[in-house]
Parts: sequence; C-alpha cells; structure tokens
Amino acid sequence: MKDLAGKTALITGAASGIGLGVATALAQAGVKVMLCDIEQAALDKAVEGLKRTNADVEGVTADVSLKSQLEAAAEATLSRYGQVHILHNNAGVAGGGAYGAWTDAGWNWTIGVNLMAVVWGCEIFGPLMERHGQGGHIVNTASIAGLISGSGNAYNVTKYGVVALSEGLRVELAPRGIGVSVLCPGFIRTQIVDSARNLPERFAGAVPARPAAGQQAIETWLGNVRERVAGGIDPLYVGELVREGVEGDWPYIFTDNEFEPVIAARFAGIKAGFDRIRGRAPPR
Ligand SMILES: NC(=O)c1ccc[n+]([C@@H]2O[C@H](COP(=O)([O-])OP(=O)(O)OC[C@H]3O[C@@H](n4cnc5c(N)ncnc54)[C@H](O)[C@@H]3O)[C@@H](O)[C@H]2O)c1
Repeated sequence: MKDLAGKTALITGAASGIGLGVATALAQAGVKVMLCDIEQAALDKAVEGLKRTNADVEGVTADVSLKSQLEAAAEATLSRYGQVHILHNNAGVAGGGAYGAWTDAGWNWTIGVNLMAVVWGCEIFGPLMERHGQGGHIVNTASIAGLISGSGNAYNVTKYGVVALSEGLRVELAPRGIGVSVLCPGFIRTQIVDSARNLPERFAGAVPARPAAGQQAIETWLGNVRERVAGGIDPLYVGELVREGVEGDWPYIFTDNEFEPVIAARFAGIKAGFDRIRGRAPPR
C-alpha cells in the first residue's frame, strides 16, 4: 500500500513494545492510528505521548482474546475515523510452558491471544477494508518461533499458526485488494517476558507461581531469553520495517538475520525427508 498519509490503522498490543513502535512509525508517516490494548494505563500513556507529537491517534481498550471486545474495537475505529485501511494483529503473550509444565489454562490463554485474536481480526476487519474499495493491508505478528520450534510449547504452536494463516490469506485476499504480511521478529527489547502482567482472570493458573520440579533447564533457558530480549533490537526500528513492509507489500517481514541459518537447517531436514523416499512408487 503506497501513500500511507491519511490512511487509518488499528494496531493491537499497541500500548508497548513492537505495537507502540509500529504505531509511532505509522503515525509519523501520517497514518491515523487507533491503538488497541488490554493494559489501560500503558495505553493512556502511549496515546498521550503520540498526541504530543501532533499525531492523529486514539486508544481503545480490549482483551483481544474475546471476539466481542475486538468487534467493539472495530466499531470504535469506524466511529472515530470512518474507515480502516491497515490492521496489525500484534498483541501476543509468551504463554505456555514446555512439556511437563503444560496447563490447559496456559494453552487456552496463549491460543486465545496469539492465534484466535489474529483469526478474528482478519475476519472482522477484512470486510471493512473490502467495503471502501480503497485497498487494505493486514500485518500479523508471528515470530521467528513461527518458523523454527525449539520447544513443544503453546507459543511456538500459535506462531506457526499465524505464519500458516498469513501465507494462506495472502493468496486469498490479493484479488480482493488486501495485502497480507507476516512479521517474524527475532529478539526485540520489549516487555514480552513479563506477559503475565496481562493475564485475564478467566485463564487463572496459566502461569505457575513456581516452576514445576524438573524444570530447572527451562528456567535457565527462560533466563537466557530474558537477557536476549533485554539486549534486543529497538522496537522503533521494527516499526519502521513494518511501515516499509506495508508500503512494499512484503510477504515476510524479518528484523535481522540471526536465525536464518537455523531456518535453513530446518529446510535441509525437510528436504532430507523427501530425498529419503525419492524414487519410491507409493501404492494407489
Ligand atoms: N519481543 C520479542 O523478542 C518478540 C519476538 C518475536 C515475536 N514477538 C511478538 O511481538 C508481539 C508484541 O509483543 P512485544 O514483544 O512487543 O511484547 P510487549 O509485552 O511489550 O507488548 C505486547 C502488548 O500486547 C498487549 N496484550 C497482551 N495481552 C493482550 C490481550 N489479551 N488483549 C489486548 N492486548 C494484549 C500487552 O498489553 C502489550 O502492550 C507479540 O505477538 C510477540 O509474540 C516478540
């Protein structure tokens, strides 16, 4: 989508981190931005900060893991701006433990925020973009963990789901004038490791108070992740990349090349699987 100035966007998880970086970059490009988030105080602060730069922005509170609240956010966007051209399904949580620490609440919370909200966002906002006929663009935040899975946990499962959804929708929505990009960030300096601050009550128990027995290795790994995120890429830079990705209709928006060899190794493993059965004639 060229000529972003004057267009309207809704971004979920926009009160902090990557979402706020994207809101800032789009607002600076002249886009009117509805920031959507569950965390009221952070949202108010983000909106106030952007308004001080003369940005045309507004905030709407929603728990995106509830479809009705996402629908209400869409209505709020329309009543404030009349139209919507860009949707960034970005809200996400680092939920769900590794094997041995699974809970239904953990799976449900993570699937609700990271995956179902993305499905619903596309379902609710797609027709709104088609209606005005000016074209649209959807960005879905997955992760590098949507392409390589280091652990059998809910986070990776949802991020693979977001990549699958985005790749499929890109083909389906192109003839309808809507571009679709999937954002696959590496380590970005945000509050993602403190996702439990936004745990809705109905998912109580999703985050165990103490690690289960035998989970020390996971705790060490989590400690490393916390460190990597703390030293990660500036979310404002990610915001600029997303703006560029929307303008250029990029299918994949990566933030850096750190994990490129790991993804190449995965592809090599898949190719080896095909090579193993090459030349065999499956019975029909
Ligand atoms: N930070 C990283 O290293 C990294 C890497 C890959 C992918 N990601 C993804 O980037 C996205 C943004 O995360 P971030 O890193 O900026 O973390 P963050 O915690 O700083 O921001 C996430 C935002 O989502 C909001 N949110 C959480 N639950 C919500 C809900 N139920 N309804 C509405 N809003 C909700 C939070 O309040 C917060 O403002 C996530 O999808 C995350 O999985 C982050």
